[in-house]
Amino acid sequence: MSVDNGTFRELMGNFATGCTVLTLPDESHHGMTANAVSSVSLDPPLVLVCVDHDTECYERLEGGADGYCLNILAEHQQDLGEFFADLTELAEDPFETRPTTTEATGAPVFEESIAYLDCSVEAAHEAGDHTIYIGRVESGGVLNGEDKPLLFFRGEWDGIADE
Ligand SMILES: Cc1cc2nc3c(=O)[nH]c(=O)nc-3n(C[C@H](O)[C@H](O)[C@H](O)COP(=O)(O)O)c2cc1C
Repeated sequence: MSVDNGTFRELMGNFATGCTVLTLPDESHHGMTANAVSSVSLDPPLVLVCVDHDTECYERLEGGADGYCLNILAEHQQDLGEFFADLTELAEDPFETRPTTTEATGAPVFEESIAYLDCSVEAAHEAGDHTIYIGRVESGGVLNGEDKPLLFFRGEWDGIADE
């Protein structure tokens, strides 16, 4: 016996997270909002992200994309979080209008993010309707260490209160 989908979502919604946009090294750029992200190992430096089988991101990773970049979003980047979750439109493609660079894997790094982790795919483990992609962190950096993070809690965007 296990809890139903709605109950599970509600339970996990109580686990406050940061928010990332995962970008892929494909030539035709693609991004996906992701908060099922965790640190895995210090030595070697490994992270994980869980990707839904119903997403284009999954199709591209299964289709041969061999890396990803986790862009850790700042509070002022909520529009990117919404856009890459397919919740809202933007007037222009953020890959064209927002400052980006590339590092080890070639996946776009949004330079206004707080920090990024650029990873090669080390392993993939299917788990239910998601696949867990373990990434080896090839390069990374804190870009805007003074910015506050974008948070997600109980189905809502949130932030850290001002002191
Ligand atoms: C805050 C937030 C976090 C999300 N985290 C994940 C996640 O970790 N993994 C995932 O597969 N989808 C996650 N999603 C849903 C995807 O962002 C959404 O399905 C997206 O439209 C998939 O994009 P694609 O099909 O264009 O690749 C999240 C959505 C939101 C709003």
